[in-house]
Amino acid sequence: MSKTVLITGGAGFIGSHFTEYLLRHYPDYRVRVLDALTYAGRRENLAAVEGDPRFEFIHGDVRDKTTVRTALEGVQYVVHFAAETHVDRSILDPDAFITTDVYGTFVMLETARAIGVERFVHVSTDEVYGSAEQGAFDEGAPLRPSSPYAASKAGADLLAQAYYRTYGLPVLIVRPSNTFGPRQYPEKLIPFFTVRALHDQPLPLYGDGQQRRDWLYVDDHVRAIDVVLHQGQVGEAYNIAGGNERVNLEVARLIVQTLGKPESLIQFVHDRPGHDRRYALDDRKLRALGWQPQAHFETALRDTVLWYAQHPEWWQPILQQQADYRQFVERWYAERSLPKTPKSAE
Ligand code: TYD
Repeated sequence: MSKTVLITGGAGFIGSHFTEYLLRHYPDYRVRVLDALTYAGRRENLAAVEGDPRFEFIHGDVRDKTTVRTALEGVQYVVHFAAETHVDRSILDPDAFITTDVYGTFVMLETARAIGVERFVHVSTDEVYGSAEQGAFDEGAPLRPSSPYAASKAGADLLAQAYYRTYGLPVLIVRPSNTFGPRQYPEKLIPFFTVRALHDQPLPLYGDGQQRRDWLYVDDHVRAIDVVLHQGQVGEAYNIAGGNERVNLEVARLIVQTLGKPESLIQFVHDRPGHDRRYALDDRKLRALGWQPQAHFETALRDTVLWYAQHPEWWQPILQQQADYRQFVERWYAERSLPKTPKSAE
């Protein structure tokens, strides 16, 4: 049946993949993207769908009630991606995380309640659970966020739950693990290291490089959101796990190997404060709906790294034009005093 879907943050990394996916798989759907086009949201991420008569773009901020009200007019389904997402930025400057991730989510929920929508998928994160020293968190685990970013997402996650319990807003929550793939902003580990390695610049690995993340390929991520949007039970949260737990040092090594660069580029620097050691999710609830990840990690990582190598026109404008990006990298790594020791990764 025909639906109009509002995707907030649709010009960002995962949001743009989900927008493409929805238009490709649901010929009856209309898709409206609301995006503030901050540093990480870029109109060129939506190039594949521009011109599609079922696609509409609204430039605006989720914190702006008037804009959100206009964007929600005639909408049945909402998928709320819009957020500040980078832990390191949240450590330097938490302000925008509180206003966008917490208050922006409040505006989305409140307006969706006033207008009345059929389903509201809130995109949360595995980081709301905090570090998993052992085992894996299921959806009932307590939220123990570590960074200002994770705390802002936990606030949003709890608000979404409250809107279901208090007002009966048909909310569904997804908590995905670390996602990677083409078009991810080059501040996150994989694209950041790839772009630096392409320039033969050192790759600053935090602490001992033994932190573990569970890597989820973006195609598997968007399929999971499709499943939750259409088959999930309202009021429930669903973990999305990649099933690819790797230590950061191994990921860094795979990146340099793919590009034929020396491992000596990998340099250990002072750790991120409050750094979560490990993220791990129990995804049985989502698998019970018939989803499972399909990507093979090493192949998907190789494809992703090669995508960056083959698409400098995508990331060069970020490096050259965005003074904000250069300032952030310089400020952050001045504080991390790169390198911690002059030794390279053996
Ligand atoms: P990141 O991509 O920032 O995601 P998150 O912190 O949300 O998991 O980082 C992934 C891992 O890589 C994390 O353990 C921090 C580490 N990391 C580095 O060691 N060096 C870096 O320059 C970056 C950006 C991340």
